[in-house]
Parts: sequence; C-alpha cells; structure tokens
Amino acid sequence: MPESRQERALLVYAHRKRVRGPAAVLHVAEVMEELKDLVLAAGATVAASHVQSVDAENPATIVRKGTLVRLKQEIETTGANLVVFQNLLKPKQQALLEEELDVKTLDRREVILDIFARRARTREGKLQVELAQLSFRLGRLTGGRKELSRLGGGIGTRGPGEKKLEEDRRRIRTQIRQFERELTTVRRTRSLHYQRRREVGFPVVALVGYTNAGKSTLFNRLTGADVFVADQLFATLDPTARKFRLPGGREAILVDTVGFIHDLPDELRQAFLATLEGIGEADLLLHVVDGSSDAMESNIASVNTILGELSFREKPIVLLMNKRDLCLPGAPPQEGALRISAKSGEGIPELLTLIERELWFHRPQEIASTPPA
Ligand code: GTP
Repeated sequence: MPESRQERALLVYAHRKRVRGPAAVLHVAEVMEELKDLVLAAGATVAASHVQSVDAENPATIVRKGTLVRLKQEIETTGANLVVFQNLLKPKQQALLEEELDVKTLDRREVILDIFARRARTREGKLQVELAQLSFRLGRLTGGRKELSRLGGGIGTRGPGEKKLEEDRRRIRTQIRQFERELTTVRRTRSLHYQRRREVGFPVVALVGYTNAGKSTLFNRLTGADVFVADQLFATLDPTARKFRLPGGREAILVDTVGFIHDLPDELRQAFLATLEGIGEADLLLHVVDGSSDAMESNIASVNTILGELSFREKPIVLLMNKRDLCLPGAPPQEGALRISAKSGEGIPELLTLIERELWFHRPQEIASTPPA
C-alpha cells in the first residue's frame, strides 16, 4: 500500500515499578531513546512520548483505562497517526487499543520487522524478513484486528502485502515452507562462497557488534568499499564481504554483519541468528562497540550473549572501542580493548597490525603458512 502521509508516532511505555531510583530512570531513558531511534529508522517521526510506571500491565490495554483518554487527547493535540508501544502487545490487546485510540497501534517488534523489510538488500535478507513477517502475521490472524487498510499504510503494512494477510493460514504455511527451502539453498551457496575464499588462502575476519556501533563505517575504512552507513539502527542488514590488505602485504576477507539489538522479535531472532551463522567460517571476530554510548556495557553484554548462543565465544575476539573522537580524552578503555575511530581513522594502523598478528602469528598452521600477496 502506498504511504499517503508521513507517520507521526506517539510512543508509549508502561514500565514496572519494581526497580526504583536513578538506575530505573536511566533504564527508562535508554529504552525510550532506542524506541525513538527505531521509529525514526522505520521512516516515521515522533510526535510525543508517554511513560507510565505501573505495578502490573493492564491485561486488556497495557496502560490504565484513564490513560487511554489522555492518550486520545495527546493524539488529537499532536496530530499523531500512529501509536507505538514499547511493551509487547498480544493480538487482542492490539485490537482493543486500535478500537479505543482509532489509530494504528503497534509494538516495537512490528517496527523492527518494518525496518528489516525496508533495508534488506540481498535475496537472503529479503527472504528472511518475509519469513519473519509471515510468521508474525500468522500468529495474529485470529486477533480480530481491524483491517490495516482502515488504518492507513506505513509501518507494519510493508512486506508481503495486505493481500497475503487475507489468505488463510494454510496458504501462508505453504509459503513459509517454500521460503524456508529457498533460504536453505541461498545459505548453502553463501557458505560455499566463504569456504572457497578460505581455500584459496584468505582468512576471514568478521565485524560484529550492537547496531549503530560503527561496523559499516569501519568496513568502509578498511576495505574502501561503499557500504550504506547511516546514523540509524540496522543500516546493514545483510552480511557483506570484501578483500582488504594488511600492512605486511597479505590479504584477508572482511565480513560486515547485521547489528545486534536487545529483545528482538522471536521470528527475527531466528533469522538474525541464521545470518550470523555465516560467520562461523571466520578466523577472527572484531567486536565493535560504540565507546561514546551510555549503554555500552549492556550492549557488550547483549552481543556476548548471542555470540555465546552461537558458540562463537571460543573464537578469537578483539574488542574495539569505536568513536574514540567522541569520548572524553581521559576515559579509561575497557580492559584489553583497542580504541579507534572508524570515522577519523585514529587507531586504524594499530588495528591493522593487530589483525595481522592475530591471523598469522597466533592462528592455525594453514593461515600462518600463507605467503604475502
Ligand atoms: P548497523 O548497520 O545498524 O548495525 O550499524 P553499524 O554498526 O554498521 O554503524 P554505522 O557504521 O552505520 O555507523 C553508525 C553511525 O555512527 C553513523 O552515523 C556513523 O557515521 C557513526 N560513526 C561510526 N564510526 C564513528 C566514529 O568513529 N566516530 C564518530 N563520531 N561517528 C562514527
């Protein structure tokens, strides 16, 4: 469906009262900042935010009944035509909220799915997103939600298209199976591709890290490639691989990957993990961190958890504190981390030397024996 007008979102978060004090305030601020970034990355603007602390979510509408009246007023005064909840919405809650507020109402999962739908570039990326969207919608078919056409286009309506929403569950399931088969073939081809490059003697180095950490900027700096870089979440959605040269003249393959994020929708989590499986071939991981972010520690922890789930913690990993140019000069680095700025180039010569040392002097025989190009 074509987008008829700019989407203006009212952001809503009903957070539990359990945690109090400065930590809770910081947590809420971080969560709302990330939600705002997600909405912007999906192409909408933010009209206003509404945060409420609750003992427990209202089972019917998440927020208290009285709050709905206030939200309605806010929608009117700010001209918002979309409501985005940080809390996860069950199909019935979503239907009821849309009924009450009379504007399209989504949770953060649908926004993330939408960003993925907009950004996917390769066949593999597109297939993964369509699969995730179909699974998500399949779970919502019985939700009794208003026809999305009544609520306008935009976030939550891109991707496989509305027509598919009307199809019965059986047809969607058949399609899901087809997509899964096609995806398996595409992945096998990619995996062979990496393998072949390794066989001709190029070690593989993969960039991993939280979204917006600066992976694509670093990728471009090291390889001279032109990967889409944006100050938006998930600018990169497909792994991209290029050759790059090290100081001693040897060459290696650098792989850029999708950015990590907390609390991915289940459907996307699978797709996301599958994308990262591709870097199982990597000889070295560069974990890129936004050293200027207040959420640095929790972002590092999220990335480490996922690397652990994929059994990649065993691989050699170098922690790179990026955006050095934005950090206070005296700020202490994380232990064992190298401070760099992908943007200004500070620390890049040291990084290249470190990569070379890791690959050729600490790595298996097969790589160590590769002569310089
Ligand atoms: P995803 O694709 O979302 O995973 O992001 P990414 O990790 O690939 O980040 P990307 O390279 O797109 O950079 C995100 C933003 O940070 C962009 O606006 C970059 O220009 C900026 N950035 C990256 N590295 C640096 C740096 O060293 N210093 C400064 N000041 N900005 C940087």
